[in-house]
Amino acid sequence: MAEIEILLPAIKAADSVLETEAGRFRIAGQHIPEKRVMADPAVLRDLVKSARTAAKNAHVPYSHFHVGAAVIMADDPAGEVITGANIENASYGATICGERNALHAAAAKGFRRIKFLALSTADSLDGPLPDRSPCGICRQVMREFIDREEAQGAALILVDTGDADFTADILDIDRLLPHGFRL
Ligand code: THU
Repeated sequence: MAEIEILLPAIKAADSVLETEAGRFRIAGQHIPEKRVMADPAVLRDLVKSARTAAKNAHVPYSHFHVGAAVIMADDPAGEVITGANIENASYGATICGERNALHAAAAKGFRRIKFLALSTADSLDGPLPDRSPCGICRQVMREFIDREEAQGAALILVDTGDADFTADILDIDRLLPHGFRL
């Protein structure tokens, strides 16, 4: 299949000011520019399938909630699909999410820039987006591996839908993590 242009529309809401006796407060608006990304939809579909397959290897004796992720890195000339699954631990805080396992595997191979990342919460695919979307820590880790330069920041994040009506939800890091921390 050929590449097509994927348009993520702009989201705009102005800041507003709240004057009170305790001072002026700013109500944060949102200024997310429109983004156009070239992608082959068959590649995106296959990446979602890889994420769903990766979820089968999740180690989830505590939550029984399987998550798989699959990533293609922009700076990997081979364009390899690198996968991960969530791995839980009896000491719950040692649990690692599927997205971070995939991304850290990619980073450990020397790659630093996400091109496409798909995730599949295999046990909640019939739910609305918040039932299927990445946790806050994983969003911050994605942010680490997405260049802020517009040309390179065109990474797409694909959320599995279970094929009911859609192949995937398409987002990017600006839409998943507005006002995300940077150093
Ligand atoms: N989990 C992920 O793997 N990714 C997320 O983005 C959300 C949560 C895992 C962690 C834990 O093993 C299980 O899902 C339930 O929280």
